[in-house]
Amino acid sequence: RIATVLARQLWDSRGRPTVEAEVRLEGGAVGRAIAPAGASRGAHEAVDLRDGGTAFGGMGVAKAVANVAAEIAPALAGMDARDQAAIDRTLTALDGTANKGRLGANALVAVSMAVLHAAAAAEGAPLWRYLAGGRKVRVPLPEIQIFGGGAHAGRRTDIQDFMVMAPRAGSFRRALEITDEVYRAAGRLMEALGPLSGVADEGGWWPNFSSNEQALDTLTKAIEAAGHRPGEDVFISLDIAANELGDTTGYRLALDDRRMDGAAMAEEVIGWTRRYPILSIEDPASQDDFATMATVMRAIGDTVQVIGDDVLVTNAARVAGAAEAGACNAALIKVNQVGTVTEAHEALEAARAHGWGMVVSARSGETEDVTIAHLSTGWDAGQLKVGSFTRSERMAKWNEMLRIEEEMGNDADFAGASAFAAPVA
Ligand code: PGA
Ligand code: ZN
Repeated sequence: RIATVLARQLWDSRGRPTVEAEVRLEGGAVGRAIAPAGASRGAHEAVDLRDGGTAFGGMGVAKAVANVAAEIAPALAGMDARDQAAIDRTLTALDGTANKGRLGANALVAVSMAVLHAAAAAEGAPLWRYLAGGRKVRVPLPEIQIFGGGAHAGRRTDIQDFMVMAPRAGSFRRALEITDEVYRAAGRLMEALGPLSGVADEGGWWPNFSSNEQALDTLTKAIEAAGHRPGEDVFISLDIAANELGDTTGYRLALDDRRMDGAAMAEEVIGWTRRYPILSIEDPASQDDFATMATVMRAIGDTVQVIGDDVLVTNAARVAGAAEAGACNAALIKVNQVGTVTEAHEALEAARAHGWGMVVSARSGETEDVTIAHLSTGWDAGQLKVGSFTRSERMAKWNEMLRIEEEMGNDADFAGASAFAAPVA
């Protein structure tokens, strides 16, 4: 049973305030979790509570922290930490709003995940194993950023994430080694193009490119230069994050200053997937543009993973709507987009029920919290997206996955290509 729930303000990877929750059970077990924060957020997401005003650029979380002490802690006291569904129902009912803005999704997600950690600790089990509950689960396939762009890099490229996937790596450990080789090779190629100017928000190389195509060419060359075969063992994965490029009335590619309607945007993205070794794309259209998503799906959905992020916002009802529209064949799952562990799990199970791929994902603002490595494994999602191959808030998750894979020993089953929806795989 829950004895105490505390919260404190910590700092995230962008140097912004965030909420940590700490849950102590009567038996002494403790669970802790820290809320992440997005930059390219969807309009249908649960919203963080920020203090506003001038301190910390208005990003303070003093009110969210105070809400944990004043309202959440008394409501959860005495509850069974193993009943995550009841905990999360209590949290959402207490908040009482559709977007969790009253108590703050940052307060709710930190508490919800901290309760989960405390329950696993009470059983003396690592979180992934507690979640698996005796079922056989796979080690997820990582999706790792090489260049950052879009809202994470001063909009130097239109596309937000240029990532790689190695579904034939055979193990998580090997997939990371391959990524390291590609990341270094990409850095050398970037240097040859001009002065390297650091890294973007999630640690990928800062994109010194004059076109989206130049970025795609460079990434393909980096895979080759690292000694791998693009489109055979190492593939490109893109997060277009098209919500940042337009809406149902049209899109604008800033790099070559072109405006286009949804149909032309779909053609653009479809063209990229035909010219480059692309296995996965995320958000090729904006959050309410199911029609353009469906156009992309009809053209390439049987060979390319089409992930919904801002269109789905980890919401089971929106997954159902997107499935009806034929808008995606995979779902991005970010717990803080919906606010509680239970609702995120429901969205993931809705995706699984449609035979979709499932990608548990970090946000662009992160911390040393490694909960998502455990969720991806314990929920048998098959895929994990964390950001780049630098910066400790990213490496903490990859390193935790290495520990989990080691713990599984001979039982470790790398998801590889089995992570994709049936036609893609
Ligand atoms: P965000 O970006 O965390 O800034 O929303 C991540 C993503 O779009 O997948
Ligand atoms: Zn995204």
